Amino acid sequence: MEIQILPLAEKKQPITDESKLAFGTQFTDRMFVMEYTAGQGWHSARIQPYGPFTLDPACAVLHYAQEIFEGLKAFRRPDGRIALFRPEENVKRFNRSARRMCMPEVGEDFFLGAIKKLVELESDWVPKSEGTSLYVRPTMIATDPYLGVRPSNTYLCYVILSPVGAYYKGGLAPVKIWISDEYIRVAPGGTGEAKTGGNYAASLRASMEATAQGFDQVLWLDAVNRKYVEEVGSMNICFLYDGKIVTSPLKGTVLDGITRRSVLTLCRELGYEIEERALSIDELLEGAENGRLQEAFGTGTAVVISPVGQLTYRDRTVTLSEGKFGELTLKLYETLTGIQYGRLPDNHGWVELL
Ligand SMILES: Cc1ncc(COP(=O)(O)O)c(C=O)c1O
Repeated sequence: MEIQILPLAEKKQPITDESKLAFGTQFTDRMFVMEYTAGQGWHSARIQPYGPFTLDPACAVLHYAQEIFEGLKAFRRPDGRIALFRPEENVKRFNRSARRMCMPEVGEDFFLGAIKKLVELESDWVPKSEGTSLYVRPTMIATDPYLGVRPSNTYLCYVILSPVGAYYKGGLAPVKIWISDEYIRVAPGGTGEAKTGGNYAASLRASMEATAQGFDQVLWLDAVNRKYVEEVGSMNICFLYDGKIVTSPLKGTVLDGITRRSVLTLCRELGYEIEERALSIDELLEGAENGRLQEAFGTGTAVVISPVGQLTYRDRTVTLSEGKFGELTLKLYETLTGIQYGRLPDNHGWVELL
């Protein structure tokens, strides 16, 4: 399928002050769009001016949330070139999410090519300052104008781009985590492993309560026992416990994070033993109190690495790494961002240069 490039009548104001860039508030001039019709497959691929869609109010996604998305970043390197970080992994995960949500898969090479083409056309929008990037958001929605509950026969797939600011403007800051024993994110057999909007809608209530109490993020426990650590906010979570890296196994309720995978690879290379196992809340809090838990950090595309400074469960609060960031946490942050921005060699073939 060919991608039609439609003319751009008007260019928006370029980024004037990169220090004022936030997350996901500003969008570039163009977007990629393609449509799917059962029996015909994907068609009408185009790069067109960014703008609203016209959707039927009965459209399936608006009622039953049949939708998926992805999130990856393009980085500006010192030589001016643009790098995508492991984009083929995002495309593969997009298709895994599509299968779980009964949606059509995209051609991996075609879709990756479309993302690259769009970023290339919009390359003026990739910011240059330290820590900034261009966030890439592939999305697919169900568009049948039908109120029955069944998979749609028509879909819209699009990619939008948003220049984003440095997450840690004042340096790498440890976060305060609230461990919820009331709310859960997903349950076994549910859609936790898919990147689908409903999971995030379900997380809002707990996040809102956490923020109201002065916390930064929610740590999700497993839905069955309300006992084992799964994820934190929209991130995977890893612990340096007894000198080993401990993280929740991928068993359907945890997103298979690309940052998580990269961190586990780097930790293995640094000589750490990796334990993908259930870690109970008691083991976690006791470890923080008796020093066996040395460091904890979230991993995800938006923040890369987020050090955990404090954990609160019911009326018990523990502090980690004296509320600062740990040595390993900082090393991983610097290694990953070093590879992404081209300050360090890419020995794993993770970077795709445009
Ligand atoms: C629920 C959840 N867990 C983990 C992650 C981290 O995944 P990745 O490292 O691929 O960004 C994300 C973000 O994409 C997420 O939304």
